[in-house]
Amino acid sequence: MANSTTKILTIVSFLVLISQGYSQCSLQDITIVQRQSGVVRNQPKWNVTISNRCICTQTDVKLNCTDFQTILPIPTSILKVEGNVCTLNDGNPVYSNTDISFEYASSKSFPLNPISSQINCS
Ligand SMILES: *[C@@H]1O[C@H](CO)[C@@H](O)[C@H](O)[C@H]1NC(C)=O
Ligand SMILES: *[C@@H]1O[C@H](CO)[C@@H](O)[C@H](O)[C@H]1NC(C)=O
Repeated sequence: MANSTTKILTIVSFLVLISQGYSQCSLQDITIVQRQSGVVRNQPKWNVTISNRCICTQTDVKLNCTDFQTILPIPTSILKVEGNVCTLNDGNPVYSNTDISFEYASSKSFPLNPISSQINCS
């Protein structure tokens, strides 16, 4: 009895994992939290923390960088600005629940909304 209950639970959790992996992942799972974290040369400094809430890895994550400006340089390996589009983490995998963080300084904050990514559920 206990044994078959365990089996059913195992099957159910497996199915939950599969369905999360294959149907519930989307660009919306890339979340961006920003807060002011200080001042640099009279400009507010913004701390950005980006995480992937999807169980699957996402690669080639692009953010909307329209009009983005910073007086604080950001390593291009973290955020590469190319015109109105930024590439996160050099296009490399953004793993599930692993934060990527950087800071910029500008008179206003920019939304930096995700615009595309590749979802890898394998
Ligand atoms: C990027 O942001 C700008 C300004 O907020 C907006 O006008 C534009 O439609 C956005 N582009 C995409 C691809 O989401
Ligand atoms: C941004 O804030 C988070 C939470 O306080 C912190 O863990 C992270 O190191 C900060 N990022 C940078 C680049 O300082």
